[in-house]
Amino acid sequence: MLDKIKQIGEEFSEAIQKVTDSKELEEIRLKYLSRKGIFPQLFEDFKALPKEEKPAVGQLLNQVKNQTQNLFDEIKTKVELAGSHSDSYIDLTLPGRSKQLGSKHLLIQSMNEIKKIFIGLGFSVYEGPELESDYNNFEALNFPPDHPARDMQDTFFINDDFLLRTHTSPVQIRLMKNTKPPIRAIMPGKVYRNEAISAKSYCLFHQVEGLYIDTDVTFAELKGTLVSFVKRYFGDDVKYRFRASFFPFTEPSAELDIWWQPKDKPGQWMEILGCGMVDPNVLENVGIDPEKYVGYAFGMGVERSTLRKYKINDIRNFFDNDKRFLEQF
Ligand code: PHE
Repeated sequence: MLDKIKQIGEEFSEAIQKVTDSKELEEIRLKYLSRKGIFPQLFEDFKALPKEEKPAVGQLLNQVKNQTQNLFDEIKTKVELAGSHSDSYIDLTLPGRSKQLGSKHLLIQSMNEIKKIFIGLGFSVYEGPELESDYNNFEALNFPPDHPARDMQDTFFINDDFLLRTHTSPVQIRLMKNTKPPIRAIMPGKVYRNEAISAKSYCLFHQVEGLYIDTDVTFAELKGTLVSFVKRYFGDDVKYRFRASFFPFTEPSAELDIWWQPKDKPGQWMEILGCGMVDPNVLENVGIDPEKYVGYAFGMGVERSTLRKYKINDIRNFFDNDKRFLEQF
C-alpha cells in the first residue's frame, strides 16, 4: 500500500505539470480528487487495513494527499490567470497604434508652389476640363488643319470633335471667351499625349498655363515675370536663357531654358516652358479686338521642373504610387 500511494503521488504530480488549460485541469480533478476519484478510494482502502499497518500508511496517505491538493491549487491559480490574460487582460503599458496621415503628392506640392508664386505676382487661378473640343485645343489656337499635333498618332481623340487636351492652352480660349480684359490668370491641370512611356515621357502630365491680356502688355513684362518665377522656384542663382521658338498661337514665341548641372555629369540647357505674345488671330477667334488689346501667354510642364528640382531621374515614379517614393517628400 505504501508503494502504491507513493506511485500515485508521483503520477499525479507528473500529470498536473503538463496541464495547460482548465479543461485538462478538470480532467485531473475528476480522476484523482473528486468523490469517486483515486484519492477517496485510497482512503476507503486504508479503512480496511489491519490495525498495525494503519499508522504508517495513514501518515503517508495524509502527507501525499496534502501535497497533491497544494499542487493542484497552485496549478489551478496559474491556469486561471493565464486564461484571463488571453481574453480580457489589457496591458495599459503597451504603446498605442498611431494612425498614419497621408501627405500631398509631390506633383501637387510642386503645382501649389508654382501657384503660390504666380498668385504673389498678381495672377488668379482658373481651371478647365480635361476633355476638350478639337476647336478649343487646336483650331481657336491657330493650329492649321494639317498640324502634326492634330494627328491621331499624337493625340487621344475621343471622336472627330473631342479629345483629351494636349496642353492647357485651350483654357486660355475658355477664359478669353467669357471674360472681358484685363485678364491675368494661371491655369494648372493635367494634359495627355499619345507618347511611348519611358523614363522621360508619360502619356499624362501636368502643365501650368499663364495668360495676361491688357491694352499695354509687353514682351519685356513677359520676360520679367518669368525671370522672377524661375528665381523664386529654382533659387536666385539659377542660370537661364530665352531662346526664339515657334507656337501657332503666339508671335513672337520663345522658350525659356535653365542650366542644369547634375553632380557628376556634364551640364546642359533644359527647356522648362514655352511663351510668347498672343497671336492676333487667337484674340480675334475669341472676340477680343486685337487692335485694342495685346497679351502674353506661357505654359510650363510641372513634371520636368519637379524632376530637376528634386533630382529624380524617372518620370514614371510620379505615377507608380509606390509609397516608398512618395513618402520621401
Ligand atoms: N501650350 C504649349 C505647349 O504645350 C506651351 C505654351 C503655352 C507656349 C503658352 C506658348 C504659350 O507646349
